[in-house]
Amino acid sequence: MKTVLVTGTSSGIGRAAVLKFNKEGWNVIATMRAPENEAVLNQLDHILIVALDVQKPETIAAAITAGIKKYGKIDAVVNNAGAAIFGVFEFATEDQINKIFDINVFGPMRVLRAILPYFRAQRSGTIINITSQGGRVTFPTCSIYHATKFSLEGLTEAISYELIPFGIKTKIIEPGSTATKFVGAAQLTANGDVPEYEQFINVGLGNWAKHDTMTSQPETIAETIFLAANEDTDQLRYQVGKDTALYIDKMQNGDDQAYIDYMRKRFIPEYLSPKP
Ligand SMILES: NC(=O)c1ccc[n+]([C@@H]2O[C@H](COP(=O)([O-])OP(=O)(O)OC[C@H]3O[C@@H](n4cnc5c(N)ncnc54)[C@H](OP(=O)(O)O)[C@@H]3O)[C@@H](O)[C@H]2O)c1
Repeated sequence: MKTVLVTGTSSGIGRAAVLKFNKEGWNVIATMRAPENEAVLNQLDHILIVALDVQKPETIAAAITAGIKKYGKIDAVVNNAGAAIFGVFEFATEDQINKIFDINVFGPMRVLRAILPYFRAQRSGTIINITSQGGRVTFPTCSIYHATKFSLEGLTEAISYELIPFGIKTKIIEPGSTATKFVGAAQLTANGDVPEYEQFINVGLGNWAKHDTMTSQPETIAETIFLAANEDTDQLRYQVGKDTALYIDKMQNGDDQAYIDYMRKRFIPEYLSPKP
């Protein structure tokens, strides 16, 4: 039996991934910040629930050790834990910026640093990093979140080169908008006391809501994560969701300014001066 370690499994995509791998006959090391609150996954066989906070390196090492002790080896790691922050950049505090980078970027880096020596020694393993469509394209009022996910995209693409010699596969999953608690749990940057920004946020969010009609279910993302873990190919990126397909297609299949013009017309047409 193969074994996967997943971070952030208390809810959403991580939880759906645990259930998918479990259903398909894998052992799962289901990690979460507060395992004491878990009441469902611990009823299932072949799931080990372990505490792991990506901001606390000692919990990462302990979870990997516990997983190997229980199941003998780890075949894949899914860096899923993540958080959102919305609002205009100017009013984000230093603490907010540090916190979101600590979870979304330095967190996966810590997990990678802990698992890579092990994968390198075993000459196999699959890294699956959950980024976002927001790691390839951008939307108004999400700048800091995008900065974290673009960063994770770049890191993951770049390490894929250096891991090939050791037989380690690297995968990036790019979900589109997905029905989880993610948006509701987001941090917000303060609006400050700037009416123009408040108006802008309302316009940007209003247009976002108008176009946010292509939401996926977490189970759909989990199917793709499972596919990436099992596929014997060198494919790096996996896009999931109609919105991801639409926006990344626009970004890749036109010139850069045409893509930017499209996004501005879609999300902030109220601020564009009419062109003759
Ligand atoms: N939902 C979307 O629209 C969407 C779209 C694209 C990409 N994504 C990405 O998908 C991933 C999963 O998000 P989701 O949509 O499933 O949202 P979610 O339901 O809020 O799940 C996020 C998970 O990350 C965990 N987490 C947060 N901080 C953590 C930390 N410091 N250490 C360990 N775990 C931590 C949360 O645990 P707690 O319960 O303890 O907070 C939760 O289990 C994220 O990386 C997100 O960026 C989501």
